Amino acid sequence: MTSERTKPATKLPRRVVLGVCGGIAAYKSPEIARRLVERGVEVQVVMTDSAAQFVTATSLQAVSGRPVRDSLWDSAAEAAMGHIELARWADKIVIAPATAHCMAQLAHGSCADLLTTLCLASHAGVVLAPAMNQAMWLHPATQRNRDLLVSAGVEFLGPADGAQACGDIGPGRMLEPIDIVAALAHDGHAGAAVSGPLNGLRVVLTAGPTREPIDPVRYITNRSSGKMGFALAAALRSVGADVLLVAGPVNLRTPAGIARIDVETAQEMHDAVHQHVAGCHIFIGCAAVADYRPAEASPHKIKRASAERALQLEPSPDVLASVAALPNSPFTVGFAAETDNVRAHAQQKLLAKQIDIIAANLVGDGRGFDNDTNELHVFWREGEKLLPEASKSALAEQLVAIISDRYAQSTRAASMTSRVG
Ligand code: CTP
Repeated sequence: MTSERTKPATKLPRRVVLGVCGGIAAYKSPEIARRLVERGVEVQVVMTDSAAQFVTATSLQAVSGRPVRDSLWDSAAEAAMGHIELARWADKIVIAPATAHCMAQLAHGSCADLLTTLCLASHAGVVLAPAMNQAMWLHPATQRNRDLLVSAGVEFLGPADGAQACGDIGPGRMLEPIDIVAALAHDGHAGAAVSGPLNGLRVVLTAGPTREPIDPVRYITNRSSGKMGFALAAALRSVGADVLLVAGPVNLRTPAGIARIDVETAQEMHDAVHQHVAGCHIFIGCAAVADYRPAEASPHKIKRASAERALQLEPSPDVLASVAALPNSPFTVGFAAETDNVRAHAQQKLLAKQIDIIAANLVGDGRGFDNDTNELHVFWREGEKLLPEASKSALAEQLVAIISDRYAQSTRAASMTSRVG
């Protein structure tokens, strides 16, 4: 009898081959297997030789409930279920972690071991959750392999951005097991369709507040939950965009399939954005960046008795305006949170910052911040649209539709100009 708890989730594949390659993130693979099995999915783990350096077959067998397969030449395992049979058995092949080496092999149709042979022999969809050093991920060879695999229909989950086991910071971290399973189940917003009008386009997006330190325990900040930015990231992903989210301090989970860099100050946000914005197609400034910061942060806690009462402030960088001012600037979208004269302020910011779209909303008196709903008035040079009050996810989807449309118009106009020129 199948209990309620072990019934397969409707949208999860029934049978998954979970491929485990040799990377430090392999220590998280048993958790992926466990979470899938808990949801009623049959999981057959296939590990590479080097995976055994990071995680044991015993652990993977214990959580999946099946002996782990690791060789094309295991006659007992082949007699029970040959590798072609196994390739046919799978509804989905999920490789987590997928190393640069594995991506290279798959991109070139190599079948050097059981895992790559299965991928070649199977009609099941292949999903990769890459994990590697950031320089390896950003290397043109890896990026070429990624593009080849995407064009062959392979789906990528991640990688996420952040601190790496080797001490580097950057893209290459495997998504968390919970996010991988959510994406497979398509039960997270971003797990849903990952193709659409922004297919393959790179979007860099800021979200949340920034914190400008006064001393080690005090800071200046803006009110912002980050919910709108995170909803936008998920909505962008769901229409195929490759999204990098640069987030200030927020208490939100990264939507599935989104790379994320965490920052604290406006300067850190500015630097992280400029490190990654080259070559991106669309930049969206959704963060509530602090406009001013203390000219000097005290290294020690300022004591009440000794404190000066006035803070010396200096302007912090305007991230959005600095991106819009780049020689080959991407299509840029900004936000404006206003307490009055929304239209006038928003239109003035659109022109002053030289951006393509501005989404404005009225804040204060309980509106906007921390709420799950909002209303947006979107302006661009030639038009405007009011998006009436709705959930931030619904607004994000509507705003992404406007962005996709305006972006397509701008690229059409650019290609006309270059043809005429
Ligand atoms: N922004 C930014 N960096 C800053 C300030 C703002 O990137 N230092 C971006 C925000 O992310 C938003 C847009 O600029 O997309 C407008 O932010 P807002 O704070 O409304 O505009 P300001 O230029 O700071 O104008 P003011 O505070 O005077 O209204």
